Amino acid sequence: MLPSGGVFLGLLLCLCCSWHVSQADVAKLVCFYDASSFVREGPAQLSLSELEPALNFCNFLIYGYAGIDAESFKIKSLNPELSYNRQHYAHITALRQKFPHLRILLSVGGERDLNVEGVADTGKYLSLLEEADSRNKFKSSVNAELAKYGFDGLDLAWQFPQVRPKQQQGALKRAWNSFKGWFSSSAIDPTAEEHKAQFATLVRELRLELQRNGKLLTLTMLPHVDAELYIDIPSVMSFLDFVNLGTYDFQTPYRDPKQADLPTPLCAMSDRDSTLNVQYQVDYWLNHTANAQQLNIGITSYGRAWQMSRDSGITGFPPIEATEGAAPAGKRTGIPGLMSWPEICELLQHHLGGGKDTSTDHLRKVGDPTKRYGIYAYRAVGENGESGVWVGYEDPTTAAIKASYVQAKNLGGVAFHDLSLDDFRGQCAGEKYPILRSVKYKL
Ligand SMILES: *[C@@H]1O[C@H](CO)[C@@H](O)[C@H](O)[C@H]1NC(C)=O
Repeated sequence: MLPSGGVFLGLLLCLCCSWHVSQADVAKLVCFYDASSFVREGPAQLSLSELEPALNFCNFLIYGYAGIDAESFKIKSLNPELSYNRQHYAHITALRQKFPHLRILLSVGGERDLNVEGVADTGKYLSLLEEADSRNKFKSSVNAELAKYGFDGLDLAWQFPQVRPKQQQGALKRAWNSFKGWFSSSAIDPTAEEHKAQFATLVRELRLELQRNGKLLTLTMLPHVDAELYIDIPSVMSFLDFVNLGTYDFQTPYRDPKQADLPTPLCAMSDRDSTLNVQYQVDYWLNHTANAQQLNIGITSYGRAWQMSRDSGITGFPPIEATEGAAPAGKRTGIPGLMSWPEICELLQHHLGGGKDTSTDHLRKVGDPTKRYGIYAYRAVGENGESGVWVGYEDPTTAAIKASYVQAKNLGGVAFHDLSLDDFRGQCAGEKYPILRSVKYKL
């Protein structure tokens, strides 16, 4: 049964999303853990003891990320220069002794497996699919790795090529796309049809191998990977335990440096690409599978931040034109264009001294009474030329709205990206992992 708050919310959501309230099962919470947070410098470093409080809330912990060796097609550690990684595997899987309910999976890919130019290496993820021999090499290396370090299964955060942002295409192409959907699709991978069939084969082969050892197999869709191109949904679903949908990062400063917009809307916004919202992605998958319980939606614990220019105006109302790419890195995470929840929270909380804002850092929050599109905070370029910033983000309240949507649609659960970007020290409001808690409370 949904609590009454959920029913009320359901009525609101009905305005944009049509569904009927059903008797919801207990939904699962799949927690992504970015292992590189273990070796971050400074205050964003997440130690194992700081990770532990989160694990009471998670049903699954997904260790991100392992990679693939381009020559041998074996699964590999992405931090070979640091001996910590494989030891770290063992330290993480040992947490199961304290948290026996927890299933711990190793994830491969996740846009972290980079080539020498430092960009996601999609080429080897496609070529691995093409030969039975390379699939076999991958499969047996996975089997050995999971067994050796005690993981409960493998998550395929497969690095398929992503659809290009529409803004970077010419007006003519855009017009062409609007009635010939295949145009940009065939441009990113002319042999996508083959790759789709081969990926289904890989999934089936991996399943047969892994289930012999009682291991799980899951799929994580990365944002902007076109499922229509690469995923034969009816055939892979029977071999997967669940799928995490890439329902976040619809807009980022890397895809759209010159225009800031709400990064993870729940429902379609007017005058925007109708596919770039949670609702559309969920509907697409539901149209191809009967089993809603296998689908988890992605919810983030971070925001996407752009630098505003003088020409971006002062209203903050999205979309924001004339932005200048990613906002400078936050003090904790050090990643340009990304702000963790504690980083955002701190900028929202700067005290007002004597009616006057004492800090030039302070961001003004703008909420979303419709509960459909998401919230943002910003600071326009100052009179004295102080820099401007615009960030679209989730907070405990908006994350709860998405979790209620999961309940209302009777989906499988939530994939939480990422534990290391939530407020794991409780510096914002005293409570550790506030966004994670908020999601769990609604499930
Ligand atoms: C799902 O199917 C319905 C009915 O065929 C269709 O109207 C809708 O556009 C589809 N949605 C997506 C996202 O594919």
